[in-house]
Amino acid sequence: MKYNFDEICDRKNTDCYKWDLAPHIFGHEDIIPMWVADMDFPAAQPMVYALTQRAEHPFYGYTHPGPTVVDSVVERMKKKFNWQIEPDWIVFTPGVVPALHSAIRSLTHPGDGVILQEPTYHPFFPAITESGCQIVKNNLKLLNGRYYQDYDDLESKFLPQTRLHSPPRIKTILFCNPHNPVGRLWNVDGITQVGEIALDNNMTVISDEIHCELLFKGNKHVPFASISEEFEQNSITCMAPTKTFNIPGIAVSSIIIPNKKLRDGFNEIGSVIVSGPNLFGYTALEAAYRYGDEWLDQVLDYLQGNLDLLMEYIKENIPGIEVIEPQGTYLVWLDCRGLGMGPAELGRFMLDDAKVALEDGFIFGETGNGFMRMNIACPRLILEEALQRIEAAVNKR
Ligand SMILES: Cc1ncc(COP(=O)(O)O)c(C=O)c1O
Repeated sequence: MKYNFDEICDRKNTDCYKWDLAPHIFGHEDIIPMWVADMDFPAAQPMVYALTQRAEHPFYGYTHPGPTVVDSVVERMKKKFNWQIEPDWIVFTPGVVPALHSAIRSLTHPGDGVILQEPTYHPFFPAITESGCQIVKNNLKLLNGRYYQDYDDLESKFLPQTRLHSPPRIKTILFCNPHNPVGRLWNVDGITQVGEIALDNNMTVISDEIHCELLFKGNKHVPFASISEEFEQNSITCMAPTKTFNIPGIAVSSIIIPNKKLRDGFNEIGSVIVSGPNLFGYTALEAAYRYGDEWLDQVLDYLQGNLDLLMEYIKENIPGIEVIEPQGTYLVWLDCRGLGMGPAELGRFMLDDAKVALEDGFIFGETGNGFMRMNIACPRLILEEALQRIEAAVNKR
């Protein structure tokens, strides 16, 4: 089936965050919402069919993930990443964010340190602090329009002389691949360096790979845990079909924990904090993984077209903004420092002058000051309109 992603669908009055909350949060009726991470494209037809079929059976009792649901995750990991996992490694949760909270609590004691790599997905901060832990920053480096991990800095967190000055015992790292918000895909070498530093220092890796199937052309995702058995045994991998297939409101994710001790710890904490996904989550996950690829292939082509347009348009027409070219996700990190505005002023400028709702860079950490994150998963006409609005506002200054 051919999907038409150019079609502008009216999502208003569906209680969606993106369109229905935007006027309240941002204070303008006619704002173009390009903030929260979902796509303005209807979900794949097989998924709609599967959910409708399930809804027509009028029993919505407590439900466990049946064998075909579990197998669909096992098969997906094998098919997409050549990663052979076992069914009992999978724990289903109603989202990656609650799983991050459970994972951190299961690996740490209050006061321990958790590493994150700023700028980073903003719910990582409360996942650490609300678990009573301390944030230890291993910030990314920006060199010539591209972000890199800083392995020397990461290693230095474990040096005895550093420890004297920074008391928390570091137990885990929130590793994000592909990385939100900068769109970087860490390759085997980058993953291996982090994994080895982790092994050398008794640090478990929590690897958030929710965007792993949203890649631009020429990129290939490698799950952290697929590198070696040692990495597998020292990690908690967060996977989900929700970003990939645009069903985040369905709230379902599969957390893959090969190490039984880590898995038991996660389950013990997790079962206290949250229950499993709702039954439609299981239906949607299986339908997406088994029958969603026709849609996904087309959406990835379309997103590539949007990215190409954005890069070209900004380069040609909007001085002061530089696109950090992403390798994955549909979230684009815009370096707006050339506009010469402070962080709050930049956000207000995009809202009040351009009438475009982007995510403020500073919510991803201090290193996000002067940046904005734009969600380009929308019909091309909307993207063009947003770019024209930003261009006009910049020209007017
Ligand atoms: C890196 C990352 N992790 C987790 C999530 C959200 O996961 P969930 O909706 O499953 O809680 C997002 C959403 O944008 C994300 O970018």
